[in-house]
Amino acid sequence: MTAVGIDAIEIWTGNLKLDLPGTFAPEKGEDPEKYTKGLGLNASSFPDSYEDIVTMGANAAHRLMERKGLEPDDIGRIDVATESAFDNSKPVSTYVAGCLEQVFEGDFHHANKGERKFACIAGTQSLDDAYNWIRAGRNRGRSALVIATDTALYARGDAGEATQGAGAVAMLISEDPNLVELSAEQGYGSADETDFLKPNQQFPSVDGKRSVQVYLARMREALEDYESVAGDVHEEDFAYAPFHTPFPGMVRKAALLAYRHVIRDTSLEDDLADEIGRQPRPEAFDTDDDYRDALREYMDLLKETEAYQEWYAETIDPTLSISREVGNWYTGSVHVARASALKHALENGRDMTGKALLVASYGSGAQAEIHSEVVREGWEDEIEALNVDEQLEDRYDMSWDDYEEVHDVHNHDMDVDVEEFTTPESEFVFDGWGRMGERKYRYVE
Ligand code: HMG
Repeated sequence: MTAVGIDAIEIWTGNLKLDLPGTFAPEKGEDPEKYTKGLGLNASSFPDSYEDIVTMGANAAHRLMERKGLEPDDIGRIDVATESAFDNSKPVSTYVAGCLEQVFEGDFHHANKGERKFACIAGTQSLDDAYNWIRAGRNRGRSALVIATDTALYARGDAGEATQGAGAVAMLISEDPNLVELSAEQGYGSADETDFLKPNQQFPSVDGKRSVQVYLARMREALEDYESVAGDVHEEDFAYAPFHTPFPGMVRKAALLAYRHVIRDTSLEDDLADEIGRQPRPEAFDTDDDYRDALREYMDLLKETEAYQEWYAETIDPTLSISREVGNWYTGSVHVARASALKHALENGRDMTGKALLVASYGSGAQAEIHSEVVREGWEDEIEALNVDEQLEDRYDMSWDDYEEVHDVHNHDMDVDVEEFTTPESEFVFDGWGRMGERKYRYVE
């Protein structure tokens, strides 16, 4: 069976930056280490006044198509995953196609376009749609363009304000891909939850502490479901495990639970037994509370072991490097984590061809999905082509006053005009409103 997967990716960050320990924490009267150590974040990316989900998505897709030498005829599908859409009928993908048609010869009239919504997991679901379309043989040799784009803004003063972000990831899904092959096996953990939602409102209603618990519960279900089709997962089976990363501290919690799970009943659990004992099993306890207390104690000890810390440093920490500088990109977040991991491998001379990734996506509301990916021979060229470091470096560093203005500019309930902080160059920009309330875009050379 021909491999199907991600052939190439491009990342586009919002052009502004909010320094969390330096600018945000002092205004909130909080210790900067709550951000750097607790949440694990240094900065958030923000869109300048001329940027939005369309410009960021179109810019990422433009770079990707140019770099790969693609024409509109090569693309049979454009799916945008977002939870920041501004229209309940017309999909963002039509706007993106309109932008791209300004700079490419030809058009996308024969490409199927859509929009996927399920909080942050919609980016991965769009990959599934593309994968299934190709596997069904409906693609006529063409590839799919999947774009995950979001402005992850919270209401001012909400606890989530510390975890904001904005950016887009464009991915080309093809047969015989250069970057990673997607597994047919998947596991799901899905339940009707009300931890984070936006009932026809721009900013989320969020129960932050509960959302963390729901994330962990759904992830565990997804891993068990994945193992029921792919067999037990062990720590040596994968080189990196990119997780959905609302903030790196969330992944730190998930990783410890995952590690406990994958070493259970292995020689590693036996090796660690002298140091910290064996994992508590529920049948050995009279009450649920006793079992939970024992589990908590075991986890505290496990976290401190050299084996866990080495595994975390090698397998998880490298997936968090971009996220630390950009915050939550919602639908793009797990795809940023994959890119961080492969970037780390390239920078450290790690040979990844044929190695596996365990990819764990999540969306509030809530659903987790786990699948694996095998890294393909062309991965180094694809990752080398990313210019994400330059983009992050070039962002304009906002003062507190700038931040307050920018947040208002992007607040749909406010009508505020602000001079842009950066000068757009070789990119699409928002260009005002049309007669039917549609948004207009223009390419700036
Ligand atoms: P908070 O109350 O501001 O922060 O809310 P906190 O007091 O819980 O502190 C955060 C961490 O920093 C804690 O670590 C503190 O101990 C630590 P933990 O105990 O949890 O390991 N800390 C410090 N560490 C070192 N030095 C210090 C210090 N002070 C504190 N001085 C919360 C945090 C995550 C709840 C909030 O930011 C929030 O509501 N965020 C939005 C919701 C969210 O991101 N949830 C994550 C799971 S749901 C998800 O991922 C889906 C999502 O992406 C949406 C979608 O799917 O569409 C959000």
